[in-house]
Amino acid sequence: MSLKRLGLYTHRCSLALVMILVLVTATTDVSGPPVNITAVLGHTATFKCPWDSSFSATRLYIQRVVNGGSSEIFINGFDSNKKSEMQLYSSPKYLNRTKVNRTDLSMEMTDVSVSDEGLYKCYIFYGKVENPTVSKPIPEIYLKVTAKYSVPTIEKECTERKSGDAGKSCQLSCSSTGGYPQSAVKWAELNLSLISVIHNESSEDLSSKTWTVNQTITYNCDHPTNVSCAVDDAVSPTITICETESFSVKVIAAIVFVLVFVPLLLLVLLVMKHCYQRCRTEDQGDPENADVALALRASET
Ligand SMILES: *[C@@H]1O[C@H](CO)[C@@H](O)[C@H](O)[C@H]1NC(C)=O
Ligand SMILES: *[C@@H]1O[C@H](CO)[C@@H](O)[C@H](O)[C@H]1NC(C)=O
Ligand SMILES: *[C@@H]1O[C@H](CO)[C@@H](O)[C@H](O)[C@H]1NC(C)=O
Ligand SMILES: *[C@@H]1O[C@H](CO)[C@@H](O)[C@H](O)[C@H]1NC(C)=O
Ligand SMILES: *[C@@H]1O[C@H](CO)[C@@H](O)[C@H](O)[C@H]1NC(C)=O
Ligand SMILES: *[C@@H]1O[C@H](CO)[C@@H](O)[C@H](O)[C@H]1NC(C)=O
Ligand SMILES: *[C@@H]1O[C@H](CO)[C@@H](O)[C@H](O)[C@H]1NC(C)=O
Repeated sequence: MSLKRLGLYTHRCSLALVMILVLVTATTDVSGPPVNITAVLGHTATFKCPWDSSFSATRLYIQRVVNGGSSEIFINGFDSNKKSEMQLYSSPKYLNRTKVNRTDLSMEMTDVSVSDEGLYKCYIFYGKVENPTVSKPIPEIYLKVTAKYSVPTIEKECTERKSGDAGKSCQLSCSSTGGYPQSAVKWAELNLSLISVIHNESSEDLSSKTWTVNQTITYNCDHPTNVSCAVDDAVSPTITICETESFSVKVIAAIVFVLVFVPLLLLVLLVMKHCYQRCRTEDQGDPENADVALALRASET
């Protein structure tokens, strides 16, 4: 083993030892509830380890709690006594996505993904550079990740009610995608007790861990109703169901029928009656026509 590698090896060992010691002592110390921070998927999260800046911190280890709390992995940090970069010990997942600011003991994490959600701890050391003391309680930071749902699409399909009741039976579908955490479809302006859900689906994208939600309901109504659906804080455009439009078309058709066809029918009847009367008088013998007939007959001879 070369001297350089040995040095690195012992360095790794001492760091691991420190971390084990830290873990042992940390469990005996009750820390308050974690500070919650939120980051939008793909954006940057800033972890700020609380510290009184009038004391200088000689080391900082930011670690992530994994395996349901049974172990921790090193994310990033610094050690003012060591020349080598602490990032050497970072998980490859975080290696070049994190950056520590030694001045305000903060860490920036870029390109946040859903799998980064979880509990992180700040091990802040102070005192002698060679043999520092860890500050207690160990501050904990909980990272929550959010992703915006797309503007939901809303679709309607309305039919006359089968039972002969007035109004319509509408099938409404609402769908939105790309959101986190999982959420549910909500229908604004509809009477909840009249909604019947016929299809309800949530599916998770395996790589991005975001959700697509899709719901189809049936709703009966007998007067125009404006409806929109919402998933989380994304709201669909508003559409109108059960419009009176098709009803007024019927009314217009009836009025047109009354205004056009009924007078026409009456006219036809009138003409027929007139004609009938004329025909009857013809049969009985029109005196004028009879004269013409006689004159014609006379000229023939
Ligand atoms: C952090 O969020 C959890 C719920 O996710 C809540 O119970 C807790 O009180 C929050 N902590 C703080 C400090 O607000
Ligand atoms: C992070 O490191 C990986 C592998 O070393 C590299 O492929 C990637 O481009 C790096 N990303 C950034 C943002 O530097
Ligand atoms: C570190 O944080 C301090 C205080 O917030 C800020 O003034 C400084 O610019 C930061 N340094 C870097 C390299 O971001
Ligand atoms: C919702 O519908 C039920 C059943 O028809 C009715 O009793 C109730 O008054 C309606 N609520 C609203 C707010 O319209
Ligand atoms: C629809 O599914 C989601 C997720 O599975 C669930 O949270 C919600 O309660 C369901 N809604 C209905 C009305 O069943
Ligand atoms: C939502 O569900 C309905 C009914 O199963 C389906 O017709 C529609 O294509 C789905 N939409 C999306 C975006 O998955
Ligand atoms: C529905 O929305 C339209 C257009 O915004 C509006 O003119 C109408 O009054 C609304 N109808 C109801 C019942 O709220």
